[in-house]
This record gives sequence, structure tokens and C-alpha cells, in this order.
Amino acid sequence: MIPQSFITDLLNRVDIVDVVGRYVQLKKGGANFMGLCPFHNEKSPSFTVSPTKQFYHCFGCGAHGTSIGFLIEYSGMGFVDAVKDLAQNVGMVVPEADDKIAPAQRAANQAQSLALTDAMTQACDFYRGQLRGADNAIAYLKKRGLTGEVAARFGMGYAPSGWDSLKAVFPDYDALALVEAGLVIDKVDEDGGNKKRYDRFRERIMFPIRNTKGQVIGFGGRVLDQGEPKYLNSPETPLFQKGFELYGLFEARQAIRDAGYVLVTEGYMDVVALAQLGFPQAVATLGTACTSTHVQKLLRQTDSVIFSFDGDRAGRKAARRALEACLPQVSDNKAIKFLFLPTEHDPDSFVRERGFEAFEQEINEAMPLSQFLLREVAGENDLTTPEGRARAQFDAKSLLQAMAPTSLRLQIVRGLASMTQSTPAEIETLFELAKPVSVARRAPPRKGRPQPVGLELQILRILVAHPPLCFELDEAALQCFDFFGAESAQRLRQLVATGQALGPNGGFAAFSQHLKEAGVEYDSLIAEIASEPESDLDAVKLWLSGAVRQIKLDALKLELNQLFSSGLTSDQIGVRYREITAMQEELRREIAADMTQR
Ligand code: UTP
Ligand code: MN
Repeated sequence: MIPQSFITDLLNRVDIVDVVGRYVQLKKGGANFMGLCPFHNEKSPSFTVSPTKQFYHCFGCGAHGTSIGFLIEYSGMGFVDAVKDLAQNVGMVVPEADDKIAPAQRAANQAQSLALTDAMTQACDFYRGQLRGADNAIAYLKKRGLTGEVAARFGMGYAPSGWDSLKAVFPDYDALALVEAGLVIDKVDEDGGNKKRYDRFRERIMFPIRNTKGQVIGFGGRVLDQGEPKYLNSPETPLFQKGFELYGLFEARQAIRDAGYVLVTEGYMDVVALAQLGFPQAVATLGTACTSTHVQKLLRQTDSVIFSFDGDRAGRKAARRALEACLPQVSDNKAIKFLFLPTEHDPDSFVRERGFEAFEQEINEAMPLSQFLLREVAGENDLTTPEGRARAQFDAKSLLQAMAPTSLRLQIVRGLASMTQSTPAEIETLFELAKPVSVARRAPPRKGRPQPVGLELQILRILVAHPPLCFELDEAALQCFDFFGAESAQRLRQLVATGQALGPNGGFAAFSQHLKEAGVEYDSLIAEIASEPESDLDAVKLWLSGAVRQIKLDALKLELNQLFSSGLTSDQIGVRYREITAMQEELRREIAADMTQR
């Protein structure tokens, strides 16, 4: 957990105009900056960045958020990575509560990762340069139908044949960073001592693998024609973990947004060939099974993931693994599909042989996850026998248990029920699907809870826009929120406590970021604030104290109206009556005094 106070400081330190400006061309327009929205297709700019609010907002598609939110949405980084990235840019070091690493160690780690990225970048440039002069490699790529343009787009290169070609780039060929980056291999003699170092990649077409920031973190190297292994990959390093990274994701980001889906393939060549032949929205796992982390990463970039698997048995098996990786990530507003190519084909060969339209049709006809799951479960089982149906249920159990209680899970339970002559309720009981799946339960969590309206909404809005105002509310003010009803009062008090926890420097950006992390449903409110012009703090402060007085007055009036039917003795009524009218008098005086101040 990164402490909230750090997030607040960070958001005060970074400038969202710089952060967004790194990726989007911004022009000054009035108090804000404007540009073309990176989150939807548009011709005239409706994307605004407010330096005062430290917030971006698109009037076209409604996208909005802080610097942190922007990095997450734009690059697909996780929250922690986004925070780290921003912190690094402004020279702050992210404290980690559960992190036992001493600051000196952390600085050393940062220095190491810098040295590794630096080495990878230099190596990548070297390999790219080598490709230009390598006739055999160019001939091979041509034979595979690739253009120079697409090779350049992916930064492809060539590792020449010598044992230590990298010496040309790294005069200090013995540097520790080279072996840590996986660029060289240290071979130790049988008798111990003598260490021999040589280049890992030799005589191979090089595919640089980038992270979501575009930094080269690894390579895949393919032999020309025949040879073993066909692909040699960078080992896992501090920069590169295969279970997290996807080949081509950096290059495909914009295309994924434009297409509205990402296509997941199995190979480097598939990605590059598809990009050339009209499907730039393709990525590939790195010779490993698809992990849940991969799926999560993809679902951050798009609502729709389509897996393409080779038609052979290995492809079927890979699809099954991918299905299992997807199940924990399923949610009802995301779509996951699977497409199976004819045996002997991978996406590269399929598009080359059958053409763009044929592959597009395969994509359109891809099998939804629910159908694939049920097909897997039906498998070889003979559903006409009780044993076969029981076995199918047995096979389905762990799959369904891996899913969150979504509407889609309910649908699959229904499908399984009819396939196996059971009822959904029987399956739910049998599978111990902890919370019973029912449509009612899947309704938005806030349903039934009154939405804030009128004065309450206005108070919420100015507190979120100006968190330090939370300090202006005293106990009595918090008390009077009861007038809005118990639930609303609790909501307001909770918000005030959160706002105060941000400290006196908490701004709108920090508050909204915190509310988002806490999963509180203020999104539409935040969007409204983001789209409005900045309000004057003094005026708002005055308005808030006025509003609180008004609520107090309303509450007193209500009490007065009910006083005579309250069951008190007439003496008690008399005492309370005088108290109430005195308080009303005082409040009216204060309101009048405020008016003269304006
Ligand atoms: P494929 O054998 O399907 O290769 O392996 P490909 O991508 O279609 O390449 P071409 O068309 O034969 O040139 C799929 C992926 O599995 C990993 C690579 O990531 C490859 O892209 N792989 C394969 C390895 O890591 N090592 C290997 O030796 C083979
Ligand atoms: Mn292939």
C-alpha cells in the first residue's frame, strides 16, 4: 500500500500538463489546455487538461482523471507502476509500507534498472543497424513477405554471427549489466576459475520486446530458416518477466483503441505479419502460456479480447490454458472470445493464404467464452448417460468456481444445467458457488441507496472539488447532516473524514484519485467537477457555511412543526420551543451578517 499522503504530495508535485503533454499534443485554450482525445477518435479537440484542477476531462467521451489515472488509462500500467513512473520524473521515491528495502538498496535497484534499460536500448540500436547490412537476413524477411516499413515499425534487427559482436557497442564488455540484461552468457570452465563471455544472440533476426512505456526490456531472436532453437528469448531479468509482458502491446496501443478489441496470438511473426496485413491490433504471449496477469493487462486497454489459436492440438491446449487465465477476470462489461484457425495454420499463414477478409470473418465469428467453456466441459463426455453428465459437471466445477459471481457465470450455470439435466440451483449448491448467483445480486451495488440530490449533492460536490473545506465543518455541522436522512448523513460524514485525512494540502485531484482507489461511486460527480470552470474558493467557503446554516434552520423548523405531537409535557415543550426559536434567531443573524460581507 502506498500511503495516501504520498499520493497527495505526488499529485501536488507533478504537473498534469507535462504528463499528458508527453503523449498528446496540447494547445493552450483559455485557462485550460486542449487536444485531440487519445481515448476516442475525433477530428476536433474536446479533450481538456486543467492545470488548476490537475485533472483531464474529455467532453466527447467523458474520459477523465488525474495524472495517475491518465497513465493507467493511456499506457495500461497498473496503479503502482503509474505512481512510480510519475514519482521518478519528479525525483520522489515511493515509500512502501510493507517494503523492508532500505533506501540505499532501493537507490541501488533503481540504478541497476537504469543500467539495464540503457544496455537494452543500445543493443537494440546496434541490432537494427546491423540489419541494414545483412543481405541474408533481409532476404529471409523478404521471403517471409515482410516489408522494410513494418520491420522498422517493430524495431526489428539482426544479431550478426560473431561470438562477441556486442563489443562494438559496449567497450566495457565485462560489465555486470550485460549479463544481468541477458545480452551475454558467462561460461565458466570445468576447473572453476576461467570465465568466458559471449553474445547470447548470434545470427538471428531480432524482435525487441517493449514494456508499456516503450522501453526495450527483452528480445526474441529467430534463426534464419532451419536451426534449433527456432526462437531464442531473453531470460527473465529484473526488467523482463514473461508472465507479465506481451509482445507488440506498445506498438499496438492506438490500433487496439481504434479497433475496439485486441487480438492475442501465439507468435512474434504473427504480430508483425498481421500488422502489415491490416490487423495492427495484435499482440502475442512470449512463448509461454497466457496468464491471468496478461488478461488483466489487456482488459485495462480494451473491453474486448479475442484470442486466436492455431488449429492444432497444441493450439487447443493453449486455448484451454487461456480460458483458465481469463475466468478470474471475467466481468459483465467485458467480452472475451476465442477463434480457432484450421489445423496447420497460424494467423500469419492464414492471412497470407486466405486474405484480409477471410481473417476478419474468423474474428467476427469467434466463439464467446461461455460457449467455449461449455464445449470444453462437454468434451468427450457422453451426455446421454448419467455418468457422462456427472463427469461434465465435475469438469465444470473448478472453472465456475474460478469466476466471480457475474451475470455471465449465471448464464453459464444455466447452460450447464440444461446440458446436464439439472437445475441452476442444484448446480450452485453442488458447486458451492458461495454467494448464490442471481440477477438481483448483480445489480449495481448502489441501487436502492438514495442518490444525493439538491443541497446534499451540492455540498458533496464542493467538498470533493475543494477537500480542505472538510476542515471547515465542525461537529455541529456534521450533526446537522442527519437532516438528510441516516444514509446520506453517513455518506457525507465519511466523505468529510476522507477529505480531512488528505491533510490541508489535499486537492481535487488527490481526493478524486483516493475515492477512485477506494471504489467509492463518485465518478459522475467527479466528471461534472472536471468539466466545470474553476470556482472561487472564498465564494465557495461562504456558500458552504450558508448551506450548513440553512440545513440547521430547516432541521429546527421540522422539529418545531413536530414539537406539539412529540409526546413531551407542556413544560418540556415550552423549554424546547424557546431553545429552538433562539437558535433560529441566532442563525438568521449570522446569515444576515454573511450577506453584508458579500
Ligand atoms: P511458432 O513455432 O508458432 O513460431 O511459435 P511463429 O511465431 O509462428 O514463427 P514462424 O512463423 O515459425 O517464424 C510461437 C511462439 O512460441 C515461442 C515464440 O514466442 C514464438 O513466436 N517459441 C517458439 C519460442 O520461444 N521458442 C521456440 O523455439 C519456438
Ligand atoms: Mn508462424
